[in-house]
Amino acid sequence: YSTIIKPERDSKYATINNQDINYFQNILDKHSVLTDPSDVEGFNQDWMKKYKGTSSLVLKPKTTEQVSEILKYCNNRKIAVVPQGGNTGLVGGSVPVHDEIILSLANMNKIEGFDPITGVVTCQSGTVLENIESYLSPLGYTVPIDLGAKGSCQIGGNVSTNAGGIRLLRYGGLHGNILGIEAVLADGSIIDCLSTLRKDNTGYDLKQLFIGSEGTLGVITKVSMITPPKPTSVNVGLFTCDSFDKVKTILTRAKSQLGDILSAFEFMDRPCIDVVLAHQQVQDPFDNKQPFYILIETSGFNETHDSEKLNDFLESIMNDDLIVDGSLATDTKNISAFWKLRESITESLGKEGAVYKYDLSLPMDQFYSIVEIMRNKFEGKANVVGFGHVGDGNLHLNISTPKKPYQKEIFDMIEPFVYEYTSSHRGSISAEHGIGSMKPNHLHYSKSSNSIHLMKSIKNTMDPNNILNPYKVLPN
Ligand code: FAD
Ligand code: MLT
Ligand code: ZN
Repeated sequence: YSTIIKPERDSKYATINNQDINYFQNILDKHSVLTDPSDVEGFNQDWMKKYKGTSSLVLKPKTTEQVSEILKYCNNRKIAVVPQGGNTGLVGGSVPVHDEIILSLANMNKIEGFDPITGVVTCQSGTVLENIESYLSPLGYTVPIDLGAKGSCQIGGNVSTNAGGIRLLRYGGLHGNILGIEAVLADGSIIDCLSTLRKDNTGYDLKQLFIGSEGTLGVITKVSMITPPKPTSVNVGLFTCDSFDKVKTILTRAKSQLGDILSAFEFMDRPCIDVVLAHQQVQDPFDNKQPFYILIETSGFNETHDSEKLNDFLESIMNDDLIVDGSLATDTKNISAFWKLRESITESLGKEGAVYKYDLSLPMDQFYSIVEIMRNKFEGKANVVGFGHVGDGNLHLNISTPKKPYQKEIFDMIEPFVYEYTSSHRGSISAEHGIGSMKPNHLHYSKSSNSIHLMKSIKNTMDPNNILNPYKVLPN
């Protein structure tokens, strides 16, 4: 991992000693204080196997009060802390840079209540996203956010990264769907903004500060979230195209012709399909290979109406020669097979070797050009793939080489070029994954210096000793 440059450890932070461990063992039970290196190891390593810390202590509180006591103590002792959810983050935000204590939310996993009239669910932040879905599904509701990591990521981690995912096109982002948050500040004070109200204009909307702040402003302990009724009719179409211009035309048509039933519009290029085929038990969907594959999902409540709309749409894109091949799935098994092609790209890429992952928002006219530019640059040296939430203007540009470790030579071919390209088109260098350890020094490509200055003053007000997730998000 030598090419992943770490900032130096700040000597102002205390190193933990036996007295600290005794203190934590007093406020938590024995099983919730992990010190055995073999128990701690997995918490030090990120999902991508790109970032690794050297922490010797994991704390697993069960209540908000315990989180509060831990942070109060750490703040007084100047012990640095990294909050950790499901550890599926892709920018190195969830693991320590050095020896920060790992505060795992995994044991705070209770769903506390659900109101069937308003559809608001309230739960502890360590609840795994898929468990919320399983709880809501028999009640006729669904979560407004869905992503490939749903089996491990936690709602607190989703909120802290302001994760996007595949339903954002339909239900909007977490800044709209999260109605309330309870969080603990660095000094241990509990901020109760756990409203379940749809409307609440009582001054600054403080909960928004925690959404997307990646554990730097407070530890989220509870959330309340609006959940929509679960659609009863779901259809998925998989289509191929011979040009990206056609992908754009199909997107415009899907929005106008499918309207309120359009629930996902995802794309992947052929190299993505090849990577998935190499590592998963899935079949090539069509005999004829094409450069672009689009997955369109519709969700609604009237099967006849929805299928009619989708069939009319299909007819229109076929008549205008926008697609080469297409196939519709209406039963659960075929729907999952189509989604597997899309959702297993990340895991399959991970099996290729070292993955250099860039998560960009770009205007539609520049959206795929960057993939082509990078593919030309890397010809014969690395595999360059593009996929993502094209319906939200979010491109996942991934460059992979057969072997780890990460190589400086490859980084130098990508950065700062990709960031400069994105910035010059007023895009975002992080559409949905966050800044974490990967991008603090590149933040300026997407945020003005006055904005970074304001971010730093907010951080300083809420965490003056900088104990929460240090070295992350903000540049030095
Ligand atoms: P972690 O990885 O544990 O933490 C992420 C950040 O949040 C860290 O900075 C951590 O310190 C902080 N944090 C975690 N919990 C708390 C808390 N309770 N309080 C304060 N801070 C906290 N992201 C997307 O946006 N869209 C996708 O479609 C998507 N798909 C993915 C698919 C796969 C296969 C994988 C592996 C990842 C994907 N991700 C995606 C990235 C990732 O951001 C999400 O998986 C998820 O939001 C992270 O949740 P987590 O619980 O794993 O958080
Ligand atoms: C996705 O859309 O699949 C995720 O954001 C994960 C990734 O970008 O690899
Ligand atoms: Zn994504």
